Amino acid sequence: MADTGSASVQLDGVHKRYGDVHVVKGIDLDIAPGEFVVLVGPSGCGKSTTLRMIAGLEDISEGELRIGGRRVNETPPKDRDIGMVFQSYALYPHMTVADNIGFALKLRRTPPADIEARVREVAAILGLGDLLQRRPGQLSGGQRQRVAMGRAIARRPSVFLFDEPLSNLDAALRVQMRAELAALHRDLGTTMVYVTHDQVEAMTLATRIAVLHQGVLQQVGPPMTLFQRPANRFVAGFIGSPSMNFVDGVLASDGTGPAFSGPSGLVVSMTHVDAGAMPAGAKLTLGVRPHDLVVGDAGPLRGVVRTVERMGWEAFVHVDVAGTTLVARVEGPLAARVDLGDSLALAVPDGVASLFGADGVALGRRRS
Ligand SMILES: Nc1ncnc2c1ncn2[C@@H]1O[C@H](COP(=O)(O)OP(=O)(O)O)[C@@H](O)[C@H]1O
Ligand SMILES: [Mg+2]
Repeated sequence: MADTGSASVQLDGVHKRYGDVHVVKGIDLDIAPGEFVVLVGPSGCGKSTTLRMIAGLEDISEGELRIGGRRVNETPPKDRDIGMVFQSYALYPHMTVADNIGFALKLRRTPPADIEARVREVAAILGLGDLLQRRPGQLSGGQRQRVAMGRAIARRPSVFLFDEPLSNLDAALRVQMRAELAALHRDLGTTMVYVTHDQVEAMTLATRIAVLHQGVLQQVGPPMTLFQRPANRFVAGFIGSPSMNFVDGVLASDGTGPAFSGPSGLVVSMTHVDAGAMPAGAKLTLGVRPHDLVVGDAGPLRGVVRTVERMGWEAFVHVDVAGTTLVARVEGPLAARVDLGDSLALAVPDGVASLFGADGVALGRRRS
C-alpha cells in the first residue's frame, strides 16, 4: 500500500470541563509517530472524552493538542488527518461494502478509478475481497467491524483513533480481531490511539499503555512495566487478571532490611524495596499477584480454599487465611485436584511483592 504518513500526537495539560463537571484533569501524553498507545481505565474515567478531543469532536477546555507537531485545538475534524473507528460501526446499510469503504474518498471527489483501486487494496489488507458487493446486513459482526476499519484505512490518515472497537463482538471474535489489529498496525505502521476498558486488550495490543482513573493519568509505559512495576495501587489492581492481592499491614524489619508485617503472622522480607526514611510501624499495603504466590503443603501461611475457578491446566483458588482472602494460581495436577475446604499453605517468595504507602503510591525498588 502506498505511503501512509504517521504523525505524532501530543497532549499538553489537556482538560475537559462540562460546566462544573471536571472530566479530564490535565493530561500530558507524548505519542511518537507509529506508536500503538492504548488508553485504558474503568467506565466513566474520561477515555472517550479524551479521544473525542483528539478527534476534534469535543472542544478542549484548557491545554494544547498537537498532531504532527502542529497545534490543532481549533482545527476541524476533517482537517486533522485522522481515521476513527467506534464501537458502533454505523455503516450505511443501503450501500455495498465497496461503497462504504470508498465513501469518504467519494466525498473528497477522488476520481472513481482511484477509489476503486484504493478499495481493492484495503479489501485485500482486511480479507474483504470476496465481500465487496454485499451489504452490511449480509455480513457477520466481525466482517462489519472490518468494513468499519476499511473505511478508516481508505483515507490513509496519519493517525487512527479507536474507541472500544471490539466491544460488540463475542469473545472468540474479539481475540481474532485483536490479532488482526496488531497485524494491521505492523503492516501500516500508522500511529494508533486505542481506547478500551479491557486491560487484556491493552496488554496485548499496546506498545505503551496509558492508565486513566477519574480523569487523571496514573501511569504510562510498556505493558510489562505496568504489570511488574505499577506506580500505584490503582494501576496494580487494574492491570493483570485475576487482580493483584492486597494485604494491609505495617513496615517492619527482618534484620537484613525492610519487611512487611501483616495479619495472622504474615511477615514478608522486602529487601528489594527502598523504604527510604519511612519509620517502622508505618502503614503499608502489600501487593502480590496470584501467579507469584507459591502454593504447597508447607509454607508460612495456612488457609482454607473457599472458591475454585478451574480454567483447565490452571486454576485460581481463593484461600481464606485467617479472614484475609488471597487468590492464588495453581497448575497441573494440583489444579485438577484442588477442592473446596482443602487446607493449603502459601508463601510469598522474595523479590516479587510490591509495597504501597498509605497514599497508594508504590515504594521504589532498590538497584541490584
Ligand atoms: N456532555 C456531557 N456532559 C456532562 N458530562 C459528560 C458529558 N459527556 C461525558 N460526561 C461525563 O464525563 C465522564 C467521562 O465520560 P467518558 O469519557 O465517556 O468515559 P469513558 O469513555 O472512560 O467511559 C463521565 O462521568 C460522563 O458522565
Ligand atoms: Mg467510552
